[in-house]
Amino acid sequence: MTQQNLETPEELIHFQLRSALTMEQHSFEALEELHSAARSSDVKHLFTHHADETKEQIANLEKVFQLFDFRESTAPSPATTGIKNQAASLIERTDPKLHDQVTLMSALGNEHFEISAYQGLILQAQALRAPDAVSLLQANLDQETHTSEELHDTLRDLLS
Ligand SMILES: [Fe+2]
Repeated sequence: MTQQNLETPEELIHFQLRSALTMEQHSFEALEELHSAARSSDVKHLFTHHADETKEQIANLEKVFQLFDFRESTAPSPATTGIKNQAASLIERTDPKLHDQVTLMSALGNEHFEISAYQGLILQAQALRAPDAVSLLQANLDQETHTSEELHDTLRDLLS
């Protein structure tokens, strides 16, 4: 059983930032896998573009650690491990002609998890009166929201 050791709001947000760092690393790895599974150059381009944004998001998270004077390290992110595994399993099960659709749907699921993670982190950083951290987290949230819209629209166009 995991030991209970997060006692303050600062300890909690520190742990969740560590998990968010793992979440972004998982995203980066997953985007590489989605890129190689996708078939059309438009869909591949979307994944390459978001992989570049993911690097910026990791850099923003690293700055948030510094702003809070937290030690930078990672913590488990079982949800994104699961999202990544689910994408790989669905790709494996489907005919390559469906891979654009499958990769877009998988990426969309990942984006929605990331959006909820940043929404929670922003509210916690606001409660801790850390406006500079809020701005960096908001920048990441804005990118995730924009990406989720792009993925959604591309999927809609593909299926219509
Ligand atoms: Fe991200």
